[in-house]
Amino acid sequence: MTTQRTLAIIKPDAVDKGVVGQIIARVERAGFKILAAKLIQMSLADARGFYAVHRERPFFQSLCDFMTQGPCLPLVLEGENAIQRWRDLMGATDPAKAAAGTIRKDFASSIEANAVHGSDSAEAAAVEIPYFFSSLELCPR
Ligand code: CMP
Repeated sequence: MTTQRTLAIIKPDAVDKGVVGQIIARVERAGFKILAAKLIQMSLADARGFYAVHRERPFFQSLCDFMTQGPCLPLVLEGENAIQRWRDLMGATDPAKAAAGTIRKDFASSIEANAVHGSDSAEAAAVEIPYFFSSLELCPR
């Protein structure tokens, strides 16, 4: 087991539905430390930069439009095996395939408006965390 950090985002659909508190409660109940969090409104350029790895996918433009439709809440989570544990808590990308009790099963509307994001690897987390947060904004403890 290793202590890891992961980048989570509570996406615009979940902010709009008013379920930020319920999602953060699940984060805390699962024992993650929240090292940073902020409500932001991404520009199209911000979203395109964040999802650059998906730029060749057919859903890229629509995904970027969705991520800029309203505010979202990026967070940095820390804990043992945090990357996989946060992915387990989120559930499958497509809420129709997500297991009962996962965040996406309970709060997501579609494969695009899927409530939350999580880094898919340590390499991705190392790029995604500084995309939103400077080292001064992280509160390790
Ligand atoms: P996320 O974990 O943020 O990573 C990439 C995002 O692209 C994913 O969640 C979904 O919101 C979106 N996505 C993945 N596959 C599809 C798809 N087939 N159609 C539309 N959006 C998708």
